Amino acid sequence: MDEMYTFQKIIKIFGSDVSRSALIKAESSGLIPTACRSGGKSNPRRAWTIDVLPQIGERYGFMKKPQSPMVVTIFTTKGGVLKSTLALNLGRAAALHNIKTCIVGLDMQCDITNALGYQVDLDDAENLEAAITRLGSVYGLADFADSKLPLDDIVIQSDIPTLFFIPETPDLVALERAISNRTMRDFWLRDKVIAPLQQKFDLVIIDCPPNWNLLISNALMACDALISPLECKINNFRNYKAFKTYLENFKKDTRRDFDHIFVPTKFISTRKLSSEIRMWYLSNVSGCTNGAIRESVQGEEAIASHLSLPEYAPSSLVADEMREIVQEVWNKILNTSKRKEIFSSLDAISTRESVEITTRV
Ligand SMILES: Nc1ncnc2c1ncn2[C@@H]1O[C@H](COP(=O)(O)OP(=O)(O)OP(=O)(O)O)[C@@H](O)[C@H]1O
Ligand SMILES: [Mg+2]
Repeated sequence: MDEMYTFQKIIKIFGSDVSRSALIKAESSGLIPTACRSGGKSNPRRAWTIDVLPQIGERYGFMKKPQSPMVVTIFTTKGGVLKSTLALNLGRAAALHNIKTCIVGLDMQCDITNALGYQVDLDDAENLEAAITRLGSVYGLADFADSKLPLDDIVIQSDIPTLFFIPETPDLVALERAISNRTMRDFWLRDKVIAPLQQKFDLVIIDCPPNWNLLISNALMACDALISPLECKINNFRNYKAFKTYLENFKKDTRRDFDHIFVPTKFISTRKLSSEIRMWYLSNVSGCTNGAIRESVQGEEAIASHLSLPEYAPSSLVADEMREIVQEVWNKILNTSKRKEIFSSLDAISTRESVEITTRV
């Protein structure tokens, strides 16, 4: 049976202070969709299905649509630090606020594709032949690059009507090799995939594997903002400086500039070392969020259930924290979006002026 979203769950997911009576009024005046009723006529209990949630989120939630379509890459050179977890939480939260979102996974391990609940039934196939047949029906970026399928045909809708994704396949390795022989090889993703997606989506999230390869350069060339999780553990602390230098060199070499947001993850409040590392990040890493994702069993369970933390465990502390982090990250992305708009209007003015001067001369 489809998951139902009660009043209590809705105010938790959207961090909203809307009252029950205001929501009922909005429902009866048609401002939000009609809820399903359970509990009998004398005590009807309202609950909404996920397909209408984005209309409620847009009205009562905390995320506003960006002025122009935004592209966010999630990457760092450390594995298992919650990159895909962040992609899922940000993507589902945005979609639930009626922000039309597409997640593009670039990891041949297919973690974000699995987290989105796609083809998870493969292991239940009756036999190998049936599993291979089902596997053969999964298409991704490599099939598009080979001109086997148009882009629209590899974009799949998730359980939320405003959330889409391009499934990852093991052929991503072949894709990397294929684009390495093309001219403008660092721009293949931006020009062929992301630019057309920006015509249809408000937000594109690119979830990356931890090893730097050509697909990562493509993802960095295509993004407006980069999000890097920073694990509150000593190994990531050691890794941070090397990663930062790598990235600065990349920006210099490619003359690219994008905003960089850091999110501390796997924080353990009872460990002194973990707390000190988090404090160090806060004081020394520009673009670091105040909030940190705590290490938690609910966090693991949410991913396994293909849900964001606030959807999976709405009343938990970790869900509140995740919602606040998504809000903080989103505010930074909206600032980037505003700056992008200002720059593009300044560009338009200077182009117009130079055309006018040329015409006069
Ligand atoms: N809050 C949490 N606390 C602890 N573990 C978590 C939490 N959220 C998710 N996990 C688990 O951590 C593991 C790694 O998370 P995730 O896949 O997001 O990392 P990643 O950085 O994308 O990894 P990779 O580098 O392999 O792509 C997952 O198995 C997930 O179940
Ligand atoms: Mg991952």
